[in-house]
Amino acid sequence: MLLFLDTANLDEIREIAEWGVLGGITTNPTLVVKEHQDFKRLVKDICKIVSGPVSAEVTATDTEGMLKEGRDIATWADNVIVKCPLTPAGLAATSALSRDGIKVDVTLCFSVNQAILAARAGAYFVSPFVGRLDDINEDGCALVEHIVEVFHIQGYETQVLAASLRGPQHVTRCATAGAHCATMPYKVFKMLVSHPLTDSGLERFLEDWKSAKSGVAAKG
Ligand code: E4P
Repeated sequence: MLLFLDTANLDEIREIAEWGVLGGITTNPTLVVKEHQDFKRLVKDICKIVSGPVSAEVTATDTEGMLKEGRDIATWADNVIVKCPLTPAGLAATSALSRDGIKVDVTLCFSVNQAILAARAGAYFVSPFVGRLDDINEDGCALVEHIVEVFHIQGYETQVLAASLRGPQHVTRCATAGAHCATMPYKVFKMLVSHPLTDSGLERFLEDWKSAKSGVAAKG
């Protein structure tokens, strides 16, 4: 499962990219406006830092508008992915863009049937929103499990990009389900690496190392 950062913040992206484990970036209009920068400039800058897929979302709500924006976004970088919402107009735009060889991430997916539609439209990714389903007392990870199972049975090539992940448990469950990618905020990405036993274990190793060294120095 590829690990994506769900952010448009360049500092966060640079920091995690240093780890060598960053599979890609997802953005959305909410995340982009927080950065107070020109959308195109920002996406191009992100695409220079990250070699994997970087999604940029259309904001038109009609098919023609989405197609216009999507075709433009697709020219910004080789690794840019056009993000379209899971609406009738979004599906029509996804079908047309996919036929033209443009990779589309169909976003705001909340059911297996919506995911099937995205796959039939030729989407490169479909993004089920785990956390937002949990917020309304549903099991978001169960949806990811179900979509992965159906896509496997049906032989769909569309990749499942688990989104709206709110904590490390979501990441583990989506990996167990067989999601192709998981996107998470910076805070959650940082939580993946942290363990108190790693910190205390390292501290102990270094203390032992230092006292052995100073013992050798005293004897010598
Ligand atoms: C996915 O591509 C979305 O940008 C994102 O995961 C939404 O997450 P949220 O529900 O935490 O806003």
